[in-house]
Amino acid sequence: MYYHKLGKIPPKRHTQFKQPDGSLYKEEVVSSEGFSGIYSILYHTHPPTRVRQVKDPVPYGSKRLQDYSLRQTHLNTSKVVTTGDDYLSARKALLTNADCSISICAPRNRTMDYFYKNAEGDEVIFVHDGSGVLVSQFGRLEIRQGDYVVIPRTVIYKLEFNAGPLRLLIIESASPVETVKRYRNQLGQLLEHSPYCERDIRPPDTLVTETSHGEYLIKIKKQGFLHQYVYDHSPLDLIGWDGFLWPYAFSIHDFEPITGRIHQPPPVHQTFQGRNFVICSFVPRLFDYHPLAIPAPYNHSNIDSDEVLYYAEGNFMSRRGIERGSFTLHPGGLPHGPHPGTVEKSLGAKETHELAVMIDTFHPLHLTEEGLAFSDPNYPMSWTDDSKDSFNEVNTP
Ligand SMILES: [Fe+2]
Repeated sequence: MYYHKLGKIPPKRHTQFKQPDGSLYKEEVVSSEGFSGIYSILYHTHPPTRVRQVKDPVPYGSKRLQDYSLRQTHLNTSKVVTTGDDYLSARKALLTNADCSISICAPRNRTMDYFYKNAEGDEVIFVHDGSGVLVSQFGRLEIRQGDYVVIPRTVIYKLEFNAGPLRLLIIESASPVETVKRYRNQLGQLLEHSPYCERDIRPPDTLVTETSHGEYLIKIKKQGFLHQYVYDHSPLDLIGWDGFLWPYAFSIHDFEPITGRIHQPPPVHQTFQGRNFVICSFVPRLFDYHPLAIPAPYNHSNIDSDEVLYYAEGNFMSRRGIERGSFTLHPGGLPHGPHPGTVEKSLGAKETHELAVMIDTFHPLHLTEEGLAFSDPNYPMSWTDDSKDSFNEVNTP
């Protein structure tokens, strides 16, 4: 990230900064990776430590399956209209490991009457359907369909969605979610060959300062529970902040695809990195332009990673079983590749209109009980029948 600030801050950090009544603003340094990572400095009206009540924690999270066999997996969530009432109860983790978890979320409620803080993970919300605003201590951030909304851990926020269809893909990361290292120079600026740059990253633009008193509930996610903390002041009591740590939005539609004469490998689609996983974007683009190019991908044995694809938009619906909102998991240890007839059909194709999000993990993912409910039992055998329809959108791996 880059340096950003909103509101009022003193000219020098860790110095006296007074409120109109003569009392001091309360400074809070929010830092990542101890004091070695990025950080921001926040200026509160009230001490951020002033807790009125700690209520009983509530168990929270999905249950991993213990005996799921090694298999190509298709989770079809296309028919899902809602997954729960509110933002937190509607989050359903389908695949998890120690590094990340992958959830769908389609809440009925469009607003939240509490604040939320993930104390153990960064979050990336891909807005498949919907729009609204993320309101946090760092200000208001408008969110649109197609956005990745990246929220560092401990950011206290609530979401307000507009009316209409609402479908979110949420990736939770045990490590900081970052831009791709090979696209950054030694000072962190995104380089010319990066598929996006700082202009495409949207920070919060309007600070919200609430100095009123009342009862404010913050649900804090940590170690399998939602911990319920009650404060007598709003967490949105900042007069200003500055630094490198803040939530932001980046639209998948602003990802500029890298293309070539022959088939480009999946890393050209990489958008973010976490520890032991990557997030990639497959966006509309021209196909390979060598006269003998094969636009369809080759068979591929991912010997040390699990590949998850979330199908957002495109003509993949023509393939039996795969629909808008489908997930496929191609686990490490098995080869995967184009379906029968797809390679031949791809010859001469000029472009693709697909939109998909891929999460590649370098440790195995575990299916959850919630995920199993969406499982298509016939998918592992779907490469054997060459008489049926084939995959029109051929360039996803
Ligand atoms: Fe692959």
